[in-house]
Amino acid sequence: MARLRYAGIVLMVIATTMAMTEARTIVVGGSENWRFGYNYTNWALKNSPFHINDKLVEVFKFDAPHNMYLLPNLYSYLKCDFRSAKLLAGAPNGVGEGFEAVLNQWRLYYFASSNDKDYSDGLMKFFAMLLPRRQ
Ligand SMILES: *[C@@H]1O[C@H](CO)[C@@H](O)[C@H](O)[C@H]1NC(C)=O
Repeated sequence: MARLRYAGIVLMVIATTMAMTEARTIVVGGSENWRFGYNYTNWALKNSPFHINDKLVEVFKFDAPHNMYLLPNLYSYLKCDFRSAKLLAGAPNGVGEGFEAVLNQWRLYYFASSNDKDYSDGLMKFFAMLLPRRQ
């Protein structure tokens, strides 16, 4: 019994280590970065699924006053309601190397830029769904 438990712990450590080494660093929007006029829902679909500990890098290279908020739920995401949103990166953070968000919780991550122009056309927002890694 003790041996079985030990084997279980070893397996868990191996699985965790594998999960950590496999985490991806993904630049949001790829070479388009975080900019007005690009469809990030589409981008997120193409880059899904995301996994625990993946890092999303937001680079605000183009026309600066973009930002990135984490929205608390689907409702606020659909309504573009930023009242209880958390500011992840304002314009100064995203310039240069960009800003990194680690997807380290089992939740749906709703991202959006709060700029009127950015979300009125529904483009500068996306959500990331995390799936377990395939072993
Ligand atoms: C963005 O892409 C998604 C998924 O491909 C699509 O459903 C949506 O209509 C697009 N939005 C706009 C504004 O083009």
